Amino acid sequence: MKDAQPAAIHLKDYKAPDFSITRTRLEFELFETYADVRATLTIQRQTSDKEAALVLDGQELELLFVSVDDAEIQATNYQLTDATLAISNVPDRFKLVCVTRIKPQENTSLEGLYKSHKMFCTQCEAEGFRKITYYLDRPDVLSEFTTRITADKSKYPVLLSNGNKIAEGNSEEGRHWVEWQDPFKKPSYLFALVAGDLVSLDDTFTTMSGREISLRIFVEEKDHNKCDHAMISLKKAMTWDEQVYGREYDLDIFMIVAVDDFNMGAMENKGLNIFNSSCVLASKETTTDDSFQSIEAIVAHEYFHNWSGNRVTCRDWFQLSLKEGFTVFRDSEFSSDMGSRTVKRVEDVNMLRTHQFAEDAGPMAHPVQPASFIEISNFYTLTVYEKGAEVVRMIHSLLGAEAFRKGSDLYFERHDGAAVTIDDFVRAMADASGRDFSQFMNWYRQAGTPRVSISASYREKENEFELTVKQSCPATPESNVKKPFHMPMALALVGERGPIELQLKGQLGKGNNECVLELTENEQTYIFSGVKERPVPSLFRNFSAPVKINYNYSLEDLQRIIAKDTDGFCRWDASQQMAVKSIFSVMDALGNEPSPTVNSQLLDAQSDILQQAIDTIDGKDTQDLQMLAYTMALPSEEYLSEIQSSIDVEKTHHARIRVKRKLAIQFYDRYLAIYERLACDEIFSTDAQSIARRSLKNTALSYLVASGKADAVELCNRQLQNATNMTDELAALTNIVHSSSKSAELIKSDCLQSFYKKWQHETLVLNRWFALQATNPNPGTLEQIQALMGHAAFDINNPNKLRALVGGFSNRNPSCFHDRSGSGYAFLSDRIIELNQKNPQIAARLLTPLTRWKKYDEQRQENMKKALGRIQAVPALSKDVYEVVSKSL
Ligand code: TRP
Ligand code: ZN
Repeated sequence: MKDAQPAAIHLKDYKAPDFSITRTRLEFELFETYADVRATLTIQRQTSDKEAALVLDGQELELLFVSVDDAEIQATNYQLTDATLAISNVPDRFKLVCVTRIKPQENTSLEGLYKSHKMFCTQCEAEGFRKITYYLDRPDVLSEFTTRITADKSKYPVLLSNGNKIAEGNSEEGRHWVEWQDPFKKPSYLFALVAGDLVSLDDTFTTMSGREISLRIFVEEKDHNKCDHAMISLKKAMTWDEQVYGREYDLDIFMIVAVDDFNMGAMENKGLNIFNSSCVLASKETTTDDSFQSIEAIVAHEYFHNWSGNRVTCRDWFQLSLKEGFTVFRDSEFSSDMGSRTVKRVEDVNMLRTHQFAEDAGPMAHPVQPASFIEISNFYTLTVYEKGAEVVRMIHSLLGAEAFRKGSDLYFERHDGAAVTIDDFVRAMADASGRDFSQFMNWYRQAGTPRVSISASYREKENEFELTVKQSCPATPESNVKKPFHMPMALALVGERGPIELQLKGQLGKGNNECVLELTENEQTYIFSGVKERPVPSLFRNFSAPVKINYNYSLEDLQRIIAKDTDGFCRWDASQQMAVKSIFSVMDALGNEPSPTVNSQLLDAQSDILQQAIDTIDGKDTQDLQMLAYTMALPSEEYLSEIQSSIDVEKTHHARIRVKRKLAIQFYDRYLAIYERLACDEIFSTDAQSIARRSLKNTALSYLVASGKADAVELCNRQLQNATNMTDELAALTNIVHSSSKSAELIKSDCLQSFYKKWQHETLVLNRWFALQATNPNPGTLEQIQALMGHAAFDINNPNKLRALVGGFSNRNPSCFHDRSGSGYAFLSDRIIELNQKNPQIAARLLTPLTRWKKYDEQRQENMKKALGRIQAVPALSKDVYEVVSKSL
């Protein structure tokens, strides 16, 4: 690709398709070394240009036959390239038949039709359908699909596609066939096919209008006992979408299939969702609590796409966040309603601030609605998904729940069955509410995380409190100059006894204790009157906008918020900010004499939290235990790195450990008290309360181990031996393996060995085993990873294994990956070169940490750029890898 570099496509060049495909009939013949696909398309010209040729997308296809209105077209009358089939002089309406031969068995990219173990399955989003047959593979071409699948009956007893099963039968040589019809028009990216030897968990759901839907989760026989949680989650999601959005399921059957080899989490194909098995299968013995919760969220997410994505779809891939941002917002609200709202908010924001902010600050930064791309697969990003959801959340806060619902009703009604844009979505919200969102659209069109700097002054005599709010946004690749954003800033002023009543100067009426200011200018000033004491401002409550807040809080200010604010998110955030300040001051003092100390405010805050935890467990207080666990935990190394303009790898790592050890030693008895009180929980359940208790217990355990005491390792080992659920088992093993204490060193390898023996037949558990070794911060980890790459249970073709071992190491083990020698970078670039052809999507994703070189010291920068350069020099780079490498060098 050195001479012909892949070109970017631009949103501004969008053109409606010249042809429509009203009907699509697909006939698959699946064999052991190839598959034949016969496509019969009913095509109509849409443009007045009678000369326009039909140009179909197609990749890696062997074309066996093509006819127009039953007349075969000879090779001299069509033009084939490696990406298209063009036929000129076609009539205005015609039937096109196209037979292609493909090799699912050799397809390691996991796009199009491929084999996962013994199962055939498909992944068509975004542009995988073109690896199945020649087609107008774009989301604004909607067609009614009929699919017939023929395959060996004993090897593939189950044959699935979208919609309803309309016929089946046997054919010669032990083969059978099934025909499916999907009554809803859909773009090709929502097509799906599955053929395999599968069993199913079956259930039903009665919709609000009284229709009975058949629900089926298909898995390999060994996993039959791990489907209950996903089924319960699905029914919860179906109920929730009826209650909160008034959306009912539309087909008579809804199917989920679990596959082991999958590039992403799951896929919302119409009526036939295909899931990475890690996002469906669950049992208490094999699945951790965080996976139970993410399974519930992902099942819901894919289900919600049936309306936000499928019934109303995207006009083009620049509109990806139309379905993804909105659907993530929907699934996040669903999870909030199923558990604790504040907990969910803290988890989402923590993730956004750690990882999306880093993306927004790096060379791949792009707006929620990108203006251009080379490879769309590279744009399934935290920005499109999570920031996109934050933008929808802001619309929700600006409108309120009721008007937002009117807007979503209008959106679904207006655009049902159509392929639309983000502008259409916002227009529906504007039309239903009468509000003006023109400036708000900057959130979709400008990349980068806005900074909001706030300064305050209190005028005691006048009883006035003045806030000056300035917003700005750093330059990003697409633009250096940014227009101001329209953002809701939820605010309270926290007095000695909590938030005070707010009165904006010159405005009538009694105020509330919280208000939402709508920022629109680069600089704005607000004066509050009747303020009788110097308050501490509580800013962007509940994280009301995805921005970096810059306000100079003193440690005493933070103490006030932790103690007196009524916003759970802000209380958690204040405790994190306090920890950040402590860790940063320890960093500054590292290497100095006397050795750095931890400030007393952090110790006091931790002490209070521990007491609240103990009291709550004892029934003397009523705090949310999960919030206490999150408040107790220190900010991650990744978050601490994100907020540094120039990252000091070693100091960040050591200062964080030092602060943790200080807390561990100081409060050992109280961590132990919490641990012992919670260690006796016996009945396993995955309700929020039980999960919170385990989370708090294991947080306490990690502090105990951080103390370095042999007793703690002993405790951990006992938990490992006696655990009856994976959450406790994995927490114990991780603490032992990640500990640098002598007593842990002695038992590590035995613990790892016996865990492997115990779980060697559970591939999802082994992924956790790989991941915890990859994230081991102790020296020698890279050598261990290299050895594990040769382990019988490792498989370079399986994305989950790669994410566990290679992804775990390069994204979640900063001190080893960024080893000064550059060995981590060299290792990662070797893996990417190896994967470039095999699985370009995964190769490009794994590349992310290397692209962030600008934030490191000179020596690391050199080593990272060298690693990128080696990749860039590879002949025949995939588009995916090419785009990321070329944009980051
Ligand atoms: N649409 C899927 C979702 O719900 C994303 C997805 C699944 C995907 N598999 C993919 C995107 C493969 C690109 C390639 O978020
Ligand atoms: Zn999605």
